[in-house]
Amino acid sequence: MKTESEKILQTVAWDRGKIRLIDQTALPDKLDYVEISDWREVAQAIRTMVVRGAPAIGCTAALGLALGARGIIAESRAKFESRMDQMAGVLRASRPTAVNLFWAVDRMMRVVHETEGNIVDIKDALINEALTMLAEDIESNRRMGHYGAELLQDGDTVLTHCNAGALATVAYGTALGVIRAAMEQNKQIHVYADETRPRMQGMKLTAWELDRDGIPVTVITDSMAAVLMRQGKINCAIVGADRIASNGDTANKIGTYNAAVMAKFHNVKFYVAAPVSTFDFTLPSGEHIPIEERESVEVTHIEGIRVAPAGIPVWNPAFDITPHELISGFITEKGIIYPPFEQNLARLRPERDRQAISA
Ligand code: MRU
Repeated sequence: MKTESEKILQTVAWDRGKIRLIDQTALPDKLDYVEISDWREVAQAIRTMVVRGAPAIGCTAALGLALGARGIIAESRAKFESRMDQMAGVLRASRPTAVNLFWAVDRMMRVVHETEGNIVDIKDALINEALTMLAEDIESNRRMGHYGAELLQDGDTVLTHCNAGALATVAYGTALGVIRAAMEQNKQIHVYADETRPRMQGMKLTAWELDRDGIPVTVITDSMAAVLMRQGKINCAIVGADRIASNGDTANKIGTYNAAVMAKFHNVKFYVAAPVSTFDFTLPSGEHIPIEERESVEVTHIEGIRVAPAGIPVWNPAFDITPHELISGFITEKGIIYPPFEQNLARLRPERDRQAISA
């Protein structure tokens, strides 16, 4: 019998001066943790996807900056700030698409530049800010769960793509948080998890974390969802997001767009669950979102074994853009946002930007 604390998956944590991450490259075979005591290893963990998922990446980068700050011995504030700027640059370069990374680094750098006092005060403020971000992430996932669960009925079957669960956040999850919240309300939900080629986050991570929580889940390959929809076996789809433009166009794991097209054709509602930190109001539409392209080996090899002809050319974008017309609503910690998105999403903009626009 597991104790409560063993049951809760905390993907990103601060533990006695070190960062503790679930090593997502070891799942589903082993639940292993890595302990990080050097900020450079944080950039490496994000790059190699030891930690992945937009909110988890952002919170890890925030802790990385707090950790890096602790190690700086600088004789002046200017030198300290310049070392922090360098670290921020390295972390920003670790992955391009999930805006939560840039949001988190910017928020931490505001603390660096705006905290009054000496260097020790800034170091303390940085760790406090990072821990606040971790706590806020869990809280906003709970709120998304609260709002999103209203969309689900007892007995529903939900399609999801990639992993937008506890493993993609600090804990609880965005899309999977909605399912967890519905289950907590005693609604019986069955999840179909797209395998999510090439890295198989759906099969390896989503199936693992739902099964661990006793939430019924069936894995399908990415090409099977249309048949399920045609057979009337999917009540709705809920996915996460890596970056959402002002008009609602949404970058998420490659294959999300396919799922949304299929959902539209079959009249299945398609929801995106994401915190406000995933919205990028500097971008008018999805075509401006940078899409990461990863190594061909992710496509040509499965578990280290080559399954493609040697040397065959490969295209491997890690994300796609789902046009806002295909999205039924955004489940956020501030409520559910329905079309027209351009107008209704503007309400989520931080107060500061809104004032800048109206000025
Ligand atoms: O490449 P990944 O595994 O980092 O991609 C993750 C996704 O696309 C998730 O669906 C997204 O970050 C939402 S996480 C709450």
